[in-house]
Amino acid sequence: MARAVFGLWCCWFMVMVLANGLPEVGVNWGNIASHPLPPKTVVQLLKDNGIRKVKLFDSDPKSLMALEGSGMEVMVAIPNLELQNMADSSINADDWVSEYLLDFVDKVKIRYVAVGNEPFLKSYNGSFVKHTFPALRNIQKALEKAGLGKKIKATVPLNADVYESNSSKPSDGQFRPDVKNLMTQIVKFLRDNDSPFVVNIYPFLSLYDNDNFPIEFAFFEKNGHPVDDKGYQYTNVLDANYDTLLWSLKKIGVDDIKIIIGEIGWPTDGHKHATTKNAHKFYDGLFKRLNDNKGTPLRSSAKFDVYLFGLLDEDQKSIAPGFFERHWGIFRFDGQPKFALDITGKGQNKMPLAAKGVEYLEHQWCVFDTSMVEDTRSWMVQKQTEIACQYGDCTTLTPGGSCNSLSNSSHVSYAFNMFYQINNQKASACDFEGLGMIVKKNASQGQCLFPIMIDSGARERLSFGFGGIIAVILMVLFVFM
Ligand SMILES: *[C@@H]1O[C@H](CO)[C@@H](O)[C@H](O)[C@H]1NC(C)=O
Ligand SMILES: *[C@@H]1O[C@H](CO)[C@@H](O)[C@H](O)[C@H]1NC(C)=O
Ligand SMILES: *[C@@H]1O[C@H](CO)[C@@H](O)[C@H](O)[C@H]1NC(C)=O
Ligand SMILES: *[C@@H]1O[C@H](CO)[C@@H](O)[C@H](O)[C@H]1NC(C)=O
Repeated sequence: MARAVFGLWCCWFMVMVLANGLPEVGVNWGNIASHPLPPKTVVQLLKDNGIRKVKLFDSDPKSLMALEGSGMEVMVAIPNLELQNMADSSINADDWVSEYLLDFVDKVKIRYVAVGNEPFLKSYNGSFVKHTFPALRNIQKALEKAGLGKKIKATVPLNADVYESNSSKPSDGQFRPDVKNLMTQIVKFLRDNDSPFVVNIYPFLSLYDNDNFPIEFAFFEKNGHPVDDKGYQYTNVLDANYDTLLWSLKKIGVDDIKIIIGEIGWPTDGHKHATTKNAHKFYDGLFKRLNDNKGTPLRSSAKFDVYLFGLLDEDQKSIAPGFFERHWGIFRFDGQPKFALDITGKGQNKMPLAAKGVEYLEHQWCVFDTSMVEDTRSWMVQKQTEIACQYGDCTTLTPGGSCNSLSNSSHVSYAFNMFYQINNQKASACDFEGLGMIVKKNASQGQCLFPIMIDSGARERLSFGFGGIIAVILMVLFVFM
């Protein structure tokens, strides 16, 4: 009895704290990494930093097991490649729900199932267009059949490229013509099921795609020229993009759907705009904006519900979108924080707490032995570096990257070290036809960190996503620039 009373009081107290303060900030937890942190370590990292919502890109039982009893609100996902399967038959969807969700629903607070991830992205050339809506319907039905329909909602995280404005004004927003009819059906389905519309918004990409993009718009600085739209003033990309979506929805007759920002963030390496300094500035502006308790010009009641992208750097992501793609984490791959932040938006920035109990490999590095060949232009050096960068991650060596300014021979060392580390410091992975040399002295130079991999049970996944090969060749070219 006493416990029940205490429990009630405690929850009421928490509700008050929440209502008054912290915005709903979650994070995206991706795992496309050669050496992912153990799931338990990740969940502790989230808890230690007061993060209470997490979005996954799959429904890996290992992640879900680590989330058991954590009280964390979870969005699980069905990858794009599974969409056809889910669309083909409702039995497949039923099976998915019983195989991946039923064991966990009592212990993990699963709120949403993301059906696909940005399936209508322009660069997918329509590959997933046909299967997405049927998959969504089948999953929602399967949830209902399992008695979970009220508790867990199916939705489809979409890239903001599903809508566009032919001017800079939100009021010109509309869904992309090639998916407009489909979007209309999906949106109405979501609304009828009380499911949210999930959209990923990337101010960084606006700047990346267009050097003339007004930079103050990306960083929530109010010193630029606001965009005037029907008497509303826009001073940042988040508000403008959100209202472009609202206008697009309005034009298909939907005014009242809940919106979740499924991904928003800033990368820290691999491009001149992708720096720790810019990421810091972006998150500062974002958290202030999220906490100023204002809606957007068009929906003054809008309460932002966002998931940051992302939690950790992922060294096996496809670099087809750009070299920055492996550097979206607010933490490095090993759970070390990159910069200070304050989720409450009060500007009291402090370093987030690092992951605890992370086990590293030996303190040793592989570097280029310049006593063998001095000239990095030699064919052998170039060839070995190319091999190293095919598997190791050389994205920080590219223009604008944190290691780009090193000397040519240090570029080679960096590449060798990445290959060596990704191969769990196997001695044979520092051979390079005799050009490699293992050293005990920290090989990092200035801003350029030569990492040591974590010991994650020697999980090796040396593969790259589509578009990877061409991008790797490009990356290798940059190594010598
Ligand atoms: C989409 O089409 C472009 C141009 O035809 C092609 O280069 C690209 O590889 C295609 N992407 C996919 C995912 O099919
Ligand atoms: C944008 O499209 C709308 C209608 O679709 C049209 O009325 C308007 O003139 C267009 N604006 C520009 C700048 O092309
Ligand atoms: C190596 O040096 C860098 C930069 O000084 C530092 O950040 C890193 O922690 C060091 N690594 C090890 C394993 O000591
Ligand atoms: C470094 O590499 C570039 C490109 O291959 C070359 O032009 C330059 O001369 C090299 N610098 C040195 C010091 O070898």
